[in-house]
Amino acid sequence: MSASQQKVHAAGAALNYISDGMTVGLGSGSTSEIFVRLLGERMRDGLNVIGVPTSEQTAKIATEFGIPLKPIDHVDRINVTIDGADEVDGQFQLIKGGGGCLLREKIIAHASDLMVVIVDETKLKAQLGDFALPVEVDPFAFTITAKKIFDAMRASGIPRGDVKLRRRGDGLEPFTTDGGHYILDCACGTIPDAPTLADRLVHIPGVVEHGLFIGLARVVIVGEDRGAKIMEF
Ligand code: A5P
Repeated sequence: MSASQQKVHAAGAALNYISDGMTVGLGSGSTSEIFVRLLGERMRDGLNVIGVPTSEQTAKIATEFGIPLKPIDHVDRINVTIDGADEVDGQFQLIKGGGGCLLREKIIAHASDLMVVIVDETKLKAQLGDFALPVEVDPFAFTITAKKIFDAMRASGIPRGDVKLRRRGDGLEPFTTDGGHYILDCACGTIPDAPTLADRLVHIPGVVEHGLFIGLARVVIVGEDRGAKIMEF
């Protein structure tokens, strides 16, 4: 069975964490988009929730599916956020940002009572780092920031790291996030100690946010061929 069917199973199982009257953080990426679509269907059957989108793209899809939205500054509390991930390890540490939405995703996850991660089986890893770590940076002096990130990777036990500016599909212009920042994709191979690398990255001027989500996810739902496995931390 395909990863896409597993994503549907994970997204469907996440609906069990939603109840009437909730304010729900809406993640970004293909798995989150499936969840948004399923949530919209539930709303047509009478469920009432408010969505807080983590990206312009998610806002667009949620609007298409009839989910009323509020910007994060207009809500008192977010009961639960449902979001995807690029990698998940056994401690529920995540790499996120493959879609370039990591800053808003992290702000919203951090502001939520509960973060539920929905993934297919391919995202489960013994150790993070196979997927290049996205780091969101200010465009100003991004080459200097890239060198500092490279140094931080080395100091964190990643000897052969590689830092690349993400470009748009045409390969000409830099990709820019909803917030107008650049993304540096940092190939690590393996990240031996994610909290240490995270700590080094946040202290680099020019780094706006990094894609290591540590201590945020409390529930991971893994879509399988015949259903979904729910893991709670
Ligand atoms: C978006 O910036 C990311 O953090 C996504 O949540 C992540 O890339 C997972 O995306 P998929 O659900 O498309 O795999």
